Amino acid sequence: MTDIIDPPADQPSDPQVVPFTKPVAAVPAGAPRVIAIANQKGGVGKTTTAINLGTALAAIGEHVLIVDLDPQGNASTGLGIERKARNISTYDVLAGSAPMRGAVIPTAVPQLYIAPSTMDLSGLELEIGRERDRAFRLRTALNNINNGTPAFNFTYVLVDCPPSLNLITVNAMAAADSILVPLQCEFFALEGLSQLLKTVEQVKTTLNPKLSIHGVVLTMHDSRNNLSNQVVADVRQFMGPKVYDTVIPRNVRISEAPSYGKPVLVYDLKCVGSEAYLRLATEIIQRERALRAAG
Ligand SMILES: Nc1ncnc2c1ncn2[C@@H]1O[C@H](COP(=O)(O)OP(=O)(O)OP(=O)(O)O)[C@@H](O)[C@H]1O
Ligand SMILES: [Mg+2]
Repeated sequence: MTDIIDPPADQPSDPQVVPFTKPVAAVPAGAPRVIAIANQKGGVGKTTTAINLGTALAAIGEHVLIVDLDPQGNASTGLGIERKARNISTYDVLAGSAPMRGAVIPTAVPQLYIAPSTMDLSGLELEIGRERDRAFRLRTALNNINNGTPAFNFTYVLVDCPPSLNLITVNAMAAADSILVPLQCEFFALEGLSQLLKTVEQVKTTLNPKLSIHGVVLTMHDSRNNLSNQVVADVRQFMGPKVYDTVIPRNVRISEAPSYGKPVLVYDLKCVGSEAYLRLATEIIQRERALRAAG
């Protein structure tokens, strides 16, 4: 982890070791807000949140790109993108063989696009791990993504991270304005959170000074379960106002929707899961307005 962020300090004079350099930042006017959805714990609702928050934001008028950075490709599958339609993937983009615009494809949801992933992405770290710009591949690829055409006019980019604090997740953090952390309402919810926050701080210090925590979203909440309610209280105490008011309930419609290749808002707009993701989208837009107003 450390050697992803820092240059390899033990071998400064090794000519094989390429020193770490930052690319020149060139953020164009009208650049989208980039939110990385990250938690190195598996199965906490990262992908479900990327798909359904993305859909909810698009439904209320935003123009959204989901970047699937997980080799499992669950965000791509959950949005109905078949493997044979993934001609250009995020692997090609991060490996430097295709531009991001080449990977972007529309979904069945108006104003929602995805850059899909394939298993190739799991080999990326071995391939680019010694390149000097290894942590900035996504940031560079997203630079100037908006070109004024109706398709490339994104207001939000949501990055679905893998369950790991590896080079792929560091790329997401280096490219992001902020991090959205899903936490599952279960006994070990807070386990690993301090490691995640430490990594965010490291990335902020070394790679991306503007990085912040956008918020923490509690997922899979069961109001009949005392433990679930206790986790909500504990996380609110630990993370204070960073925790969104909206709590995503455990809802069978949410878990059924991906097998139909649909976001839950398309599968069953009226269910409690869809309502929760719409509320979360509204809250996120309000936070964004407040952040922008604060400068
Ligand atoms: N609110 C919910 N209610 C019911 N099931 C849910 C809910 N959120 C997520 N799930 C289910 O929990 C499982 C894990 O969710 P998801 O894939 O979004 O987690 P993840 O953090 O992306 O996992 P990974 O770390 O493997 O990428 C999936 O089967 C998903 O359908
Ligand atoms: Mg996932």
